[in-house]
Amino acid sequence: MSSLNIVLYPDDPLTRRADPVPETRFGLRLQMFARRMLETMEHMEGVGLAAPQIGRAWRMFVMREPDGEPLVFVNPEILAMDGEQTGDEGCLSLPGLFGPVTRAQRVHVRALDPKGRPFELEAEGFAARIIQHEYDHLDGIVFLDRMDVFSREAALREWEQQRAILEAERNNPARAARP
Ligand code: NI
Repeated sequence: MSSLNIVLYPDDPLTRRADPVPETRFGLRLQMFARRMLETMEHMEGVGLAAPQIGRAWRMFVMREPDGEPLVFVNPEILAMDGEQTGDEGCLSLPGLFGPVTRAQRVHVRALDPKGRPFELEAEGFAARIIQHEYDHLDGIVFLDRMDVFSREAALREWEQQRAILEAERNNPARAARP
């Protein structure tokens, strides 16, 4: 199965708030969609992927910690957050870019699975970081937006250059050169 195309920042719908997945969509087709998202995430060697990153403005994301189980969150809500952690993040929609982001150490989430069954999850550390990063995508927020203003400006300039290189490669794979 081919992997889905990843939308690059700041293309639509990455910077807008996504809509809840309609009730009528739950079931086998949503399960298949979640599976394709997970396959795409693994293919790209990511640990999380939100539906807006593949062009679908839905409140839904998938994740998998290294050595963890694949998880699917549909219409998630963060019920509680506490503590603090700071660490480097990256994003499949901003490939090649990394930077420090401060997040809550623990999160408590409620969501539906692709069949529409509710579940709750408490996560901490790296898993909590992934959940907060992916949840942000559903509100049109990327990790750059969580950096301090100077780091964000520098990261945006770096991303502009990085994106120009990526686009040159996509448009003309034979002739594009890496610096
Ligand atoms: Ni991301």
